[in-house]
Amino acid sequence: MFKAQRLKANRGRALQFTFEGTTVTAYDGETVATALLAAGVTAFNVTRGGEPRMPFCNMGTCFDCAVCVNGHSLVRACLTDVSSGMQVNRQEGK
Ligand code: FES
Repeated sequence: MFKAQRLKANRGRALQFTFEGTTVTAYDGETVATALLAAGVTAFNVTRGGEPRMPFCNMGTCFDCAVCVNGHSLVRACLTDVSSGMQVNRQEGK
C-alpha cells in the first residue's frame, strides 16, 4: 500500500518588501502573488466599482493580480519575482 509522504521544501533566503506600506516577509524564488497570499492579502487591486480582486489564473492571462510595483502600474503579481526592498501597492481602478 502506498504511504503518503510529505516532501521537504527548501526555501530561498528570507527577504522583505512592503505592501501598502506594511512589511511583508517572503523568500527568494517566490512570486509577489505567492508572498501576498501567504501574508493573507485578499485584495490585490480594486475595480472602478470598488470591488476587490485577487489572483484567479495564476499564470499571467487574467490580470486579476495586477499591482503597482515600484511605481509601475499593472504589474502581474503572479509573474513577478519578489525582491528585497520592493514597494508594492494596490492597483486602483483597473
Ligand atoms: S492571476 Fe491571472 S494574470 Fe496573474
